[in-house]
Amino acid sequence: EKGTYSHYMMKEIEEQPFVIRKIMSEYSDEKGQMCMDSSIIDNVRNCDKLYIIACGTSYHAGLIGKQFFEKISDKPTEVVIASEFIYNMPLLTKNPLFMFISQSGETADCRAVLVKVKEMGYRTLTLTNVKGSTLSRESDNTLLLYAGPEIAVASTKAYTAQIAVLSILSSLVNNKININIFKELSKIAYTMETLCDDKENYKELAEKYLVNSRNCFYIGRSMDYFVCLEASLKLKEISYIQTEGFAAGELKHGTIALIEQNTPVIAVITQECINLNTRSNIKEVKARGAATMVISMRSLSQETDEIVIDDINELLAPLATIIPTQYLAYYAALLKNCDIDKPRNLAKSVTVE
Ligand code: F6R
Repeated sequence: EKGTYSHYMMKEIEEQPFVIRKIMSEYSDEKGQMCMDSSIIDNVRNCDKLYIIACGTSYHAGLIGKQFFEKISDKPTEVVIASEFIYNMPLLTKNPLFMFISQSGETADCRAVLVKVKEMGYRTLTLTNVKGSTLSRESDNTLLLYAGPEIAVASTKAYTAQIAVLSILSSLVNNKININIFKELSKIAYTMETLCDDKENYKELAEKYLVNSRNCFYIGRSMDYFVCLEASLKLKEISYIQTEGFAAGELKHGTIALIEQNTPVIAVITQECINLNTRSNIKEVKARGAATMVISMRSLSQETDEIVIDDINELLAPLATIIPTQYLAYYAALLKNCDIDKPRNLAKSVTVE
């Protein structure tokens, strides 16, 4: 039920802090310690490479998951778009594990890969929001997202749930950097709430930057780049503004030619190591007429930054950074009178290849 919300998407955006807390309670033991099915942990621990297969928003969560598995667990990981895997299979290692990430658990592109790798005799694991879904039934193991039903076509809370579950799994597999995931997630749930409280700001920014624009760019580096890919998918799919997420350093290699007077360019800066370089990319596009907006983390922020996020762990920052971008998409679509919960040409679960 939508309750007092005018759209499911808004409701689902604002449920995200609760979903993070729900995931923490579902994946903890009676002492409050993080835990998951030990056979799942062992399967990830024992494989020589993890292959993450997904589509759309779930693929974007997978890109962040790869960073967790490689940086936290020391496990080589490759993320492959499901519909590409069939024709362009990467050279597989001897003992791979296939992880499917799918909110619905019904996506045909993922299922085609699942059928194929099962035929090849490999182990499979599905992360899904839907208990008893096809992918869940057909793979060896399942991890549930506990996000509650996601009704709006544009995925929001399933994305953050996927990232949260991936962070927990990766640290249980092997926590070589000694990150305290639960402590960080609790902090992030609170940060998410404060970000949701700032929605009037996002509405004004959507009005100023986006409503009258034909196109838009999100730019960022490293973790921020992956967030930019998801932020741009959200904006384009519900507001129909053509939006691309770009690695900030790649702009000058061609795409900067598209910047015109007032083209909106939204930069994301949540990691210290990329701050200065992304800032100089902002200057480059500004000099060519772009209307720039910055989303930054407090300790890296400058006075003129439009959206500032309280300091949180840099690896987990995408969980919070994505929130203002979900609202920007929501308000851009609202102000353009688009059908927010049911954008044109799209279906909630894609059951054809
Ligand atoms: C975008 C969106 C889609 C889905 C994609 C995969 O907002 O929702 O890109 O993420 O169709 O769907 P699932 O996760 O159900 O496999």
